[in-house]
Order: sequence, then structure tokens, then C-alpha cells
Amino acid sequence: MQQAMDFIVSRADLRQHKLVERALPALGDGEVLLKVDKFAFTSNNVTYAAFGEAMHYWDFFPAPEGFGKVPVWGFADVVGSRHAQIAVGERVFGYFPMATHLVVQASQVKPGSFVDAAPHRAELALVYNQYLRVAQDPAYVRAFEDQQALLRPLFMTSFFIDDLLADNDFFGAKSVILSSASSKTALGVAYLLSRNLEVDVVGLTSASNVGFVEGTGYYDRVVTYDGIGALETGVPSLFVDMAGNAKVVGDVHRHFGDALKHSCVVGGTHWEARGGRDGALPGPKPQFFFAPAQIAKRTKEWGPGGVETRFAEAWRGFLGSVPNWMRVVHGAGPKAVEAVYLAMVDGKVSPSEGHMLSL
Ligand SMILES: NC(=O)c1ccc[n+]([C@@H]2O[C@H](COP(=O)([O-])OP(=O)(O)OC[C@H]3O[C@@H](n4cnc5c(N)ncnc54)[C@H](OP(=O)(O)O)[C@@H]3O)[C@@H](O)[C@H]2O)c1
Repeated sequence: MQQAMDFIVSRADLRQHKLVERALPALGDGEVLLKVDKFAFTSNNVTYAAFGEAMHYWDFFPAPEGFGKVPVWGFADVVGSRHAQIAVGERVFGYFPMATHLVVQASQVKPGSFVDAAPHRAELALVYNQYLRVAQDPAYVRAFEDQQALLRPLFMTSFFIDDLLADNDFFGAKSVILSSASSKTALGVAYLLSRNLEVDVVGLTSASNVGFVEGTGYYDRVVTYDGIGALETGVPSLFVDMAGNAKVVGDVHRHFGDALKHSCVVGGTHWEARGGRDGALPGPKPQFFFAPAQIAKRTKEWGPGGVETRFAEAWRGFLGSVPNWMRVVHGAGPKAVEAVYLAMVDGKVSPSEGHMLSL
């Protein structure tokens, strides 16, 4: 019988983790066994864990009581199949646990994708339950698998943040302020905004990341978190918050007050300093960014293929500039996975690194 390995973390203390070995069950009708080849690991995955309970991220891949399997984006190969339309040897891209294997209940099988119809995933969003069959994915390039896993899901968010802002005439703002400006998601937004001459793009980041953020060339100005007080308040501004740091959110709202035209909640990289978004703040009430709503709006407005074509054009442009600031780092085996996991939880990973892991 084949063995599988899971990297599980304590829901109560994300620094506590362990590896668990288990025997793979025999496949039932319609089930497919996926062997996880490699996956990306960024702060986004720590955010999935930090908000695992509230946002249901723990529900994708059930784990023993008190533990969770952190979801990751990556590639897997079909190594067993009891579904007539899915053959052993196929490669897929999608959402996996930090594990060596995943059994899915294949459903809605199309040439380019299928969905895991496991009952515990039924209530969760399609974007996470769908597996792309790379052989039929026109955007797939084998040589760019790492960039795809590391950046494509994040850039999809960046793309729709940029689109939402443009769609709303930037809520009247002339300056867009991004926190955790060094994050891949913020860099995607900044890249897209840098093509728009109507607005200035201001990056907020830690002192240690200022040089890196400036070096990307996507921002008009880069300021440290303790420099918020020096920002120009005469310019109508909007805030896109990737950090979720209570003090930073408070400082931005108090400093700008009514000059802040919109406050958009996206991430929580500073997960241990989180808060402040629902308190009584001057300026606009922070609004959660909900990508599926903007995707649904544009799918309707842009018609068949409209979203895909526009996204592909933006993605190609962004990908061309990524080698200027990101280098891919590969790690294999439990020790490498543990080291990157803990460094990411502690915020000790350089933003210039894109980590691809494999158990
Ligand atoms: N709502 C959505 O639909 C959606 C979609 C995609 C991503 N997101 C969110 O966007 C955020 C960025 O994700 P990413 O994967 O792009 O990040 P990333 O590239 O891994 O970001 C790294 C940066 O985040 C900050 N950081 C990371 N860990 C930290 C820690 N423990 N303590 C303090 N700062 C830390 C640092 O930036 P600074 O020094 O610049 O602060 C660091 O350089 C995540 O919270 C993610 O969940 C949301």
C-alpha cells in the first residue's frame, strides 16, 4: 500500500507543526489520486492559516482535531484514477494541502478542467475546487510552472483590484497607497497601476524592504510604516491594505481622514498585528475586496473570453518584468518545507525570493 505524508499545523499556534504519515486508501468510483509534485509558498498561505477558521480555509483539506492542512497552489500528477475520462500521467494545476498526495472526487470533467466534488468542499468557492488540466490550458508553459504557481493566483487578485479601482474612477482618488508594498500581490497591483498616468502609486513597507520595493520600479514613491505622517494629505487618496496591521490601518485613516476616498481590505501579511478594520476610524469604512464579485461583473460585461483575453495580456506583461525582482528558490523534503514555512510565518523571507517546495 502506498504511503502519503501530510504537513499539518496547530490551528491554535501556527508555529507548531508536524509531519504525519498515512496509508493511502483504495480509490472509490470516480476518485483520482494526485501526487503533489511542487507547490508555491508565500505569505498568502500563512494568511490562509491565520484566517483559517473565520474564512473556512481549514475546510478544504480535513486534518486531525486541532490541526489544519495549509492550502497551497501547485502542480500534481495523476498517479491513480477510477474516472474514465482522467488518465494516469496527466498533470494538473490547482489547490492542494501541503502533502505528498490528494485524493479527489472528479466531477464536471471538461477537456480543460475538473472539479473535486468531495462533500466537505461543496460549500467552498469553485476557483479553489477546480483543477486545470495543463495539457489543455492555453496559458500553460512548462518552463514557467514556478512563476504560474507563485504568481498567477495572486496576480488574478491584483488584476481585479486594479480593475475594480478603474471601474470606480478610483473613487475620486489621485493617489493609491498600498501596504505590504513588497508583497507579490501588491507588486502586481503596482505594476498595473504604473501603466496609468492618472494616479500616483505609493508603497508602504518595512524599513528593510524599502530598497527592494524601490528597485522594482513599479511605485512612484516608497515610504516606511513610520513615515505615514509625512504623506501629502492635500491629494485625494485611497488605501489598498495587504498588511492588515491595526496600527498601520489606524495611522493611514487618522492621517488622511476625509481625504481618504476608499479603503480596500485585501490581505493580512502582518497577521500577528492584525485588527483595526472594524473599529471606529476616521474616513471611509474599510471594504473587503471580493474578487468573485468583480469577476462575475466583468464576465457579464466583457462577454465570452473577455476576461481571459484581458487577463492574459496583463499577465504576459507582468511576467516579463518579474525576473527583475524575483528569483525562484526550490526546496525539497520535510526539512526544507519546515524551514520555509517557519520563516514565512515569522516574516523572515526576502521579498525577492519565490519559494517552490516539495515534500
Ligand atoms: N483577498 C484576496 O482575494 C487575496 C488574494 C491574494 C492575496 N491576498 C493577500 O495578500 C497578501 C500578500 O500575499 P503575498 O503572497 O503576495 O505575500 P508575499 O509576497 O509573501 O509578501 C511578503 C511581504 O509581506 C510582509 N510580511 C510577510 N510576512 C510577514 C510577517 N510575518 N510579519 C510582517 N510582515 C510580513 C512583508 O512585507 P512588508 O515589509 O512590505 O510589509 C514581506 O516582504 C496576503 O495577506 C494574502 O493573503 C488576498
